[in-house]
Amino acid sequence: MKDLFFRRHRRLRSSANMRALVRETYLHKEDLIYPIFIIDGENVKSEIGSMPGIYQLSLDNLMEEMTEVASLGIKSVILFGVPFEHDKDEHGSGAFHHNGLVQEATRLIKKHFPEILVIADTCLCEYTSHGHCGVVEGGTILNDASLDLLAKTAISQAEAGADIIAPSNMMDGFVAAIRAGLDEAGYEDIPIMSYAVKYASAFYGPFRDAANGAPQFGDRKTYQMDPANRLEAFREAESDVEEGADFLIVKPALSYLDIMRDVKNNFNLPVVAYNVSGEYSMIKAAANNGWIDEKAIVMETLLSMKRAGADLIITYASKDVARWLDEEG
Ligand code: PBG
Ligand code: ZN
Repeated sequence: MKDLFFRRHRRLRSSANMRALVRETYLHKEDLIYPIFIIDGENVKSEIGSMPGIYQLSLDNLMEEMTEVASLGIKSVILFGVPFEHDKDEHGSGAFHHNGLVQEATRLIKKHFPEILVIADTCLCEYTSHGHCGVVEGGTILNDASLDLLAKTAISQAEAGADIIAPSNMMDGFVAAIRAGLDEAGYEDIPIMSYAVKYASAFYGPFRDAANGAPQFGDRKTYQMDPANRLEAFREAESDVEEGADFLIVKPALSYLDIMRDVKNNFNLPVVAYNVSGEYSMIKAAANNGWIDEKAIVMETLLSMKRAGADLIITYASKDVARWLDEEG
């Protein structure tokens, strides 16, 4: 027995300090991007049924939320607009209105919390009457006709003071179109965080309640990616890099950690995991039933995204995570 050789892996797990010494992956507050839903109207603070702890907030309730976000040490937020149904139209013109919801929310945040990074989600689906992310003609979602509207949206968001533009609509060429539009309007220094690799996923279900943005006919499978495909993610990421993206988002996160590692290994840009609504809801539901340890599960899942190569994480759990990181010191 004495001369039997085998590795003693457990030597490096013998105490908390020993484990800390060899820990490879960390989650920091700087990694967190917190999504906020801005709804039209006054004095609205409406909890989303399928997303406990997440609210649709009217502009007059936004500063209270931002005060909490800032005091927790969260440094970036991503904004989504939830307009009145009667303000939606075929072209989603609310998305690029000078006084649109995201634009006004951006102005407010940058005025009172100038150091917080405002990321503007750039899409049309929350603002179109048909709920699709682009212009529709005869049941088809048109690619090139949508690009102009997206560029207009991005420019109006930059004008309002957005620090980063995050296009999510999955039309081909959207990064090039937005980059050209921003540059022409004098916003050469505003980065683009592209939803480069975005799958047509059932995990977006609760978000569609939150943003009232479900497509009124069909689905998004003609523009979002097929969950079965890996090599296609390389093509999507590659074209966005060529077109001038500054960050690459992989979305959803948990069922796509293999893709996250691929994107990290093959493209030299910061990779962002979008820990989407359905991923959040599943954990909340199980935790609220007492079936799982919410903190442990959330921390483990977010850590898995970082281990898979994510540099940043867009997550609805940001406020909880910031508190838990504080507790741990
Ligand atoms: C819309 C958009 C969606 C999400 C972010 N932007 C929904 C969709 O594409 O259907 C999903 C976010 C989430 O589920 O948390 N372009
Ligand atoms: Zn969309």
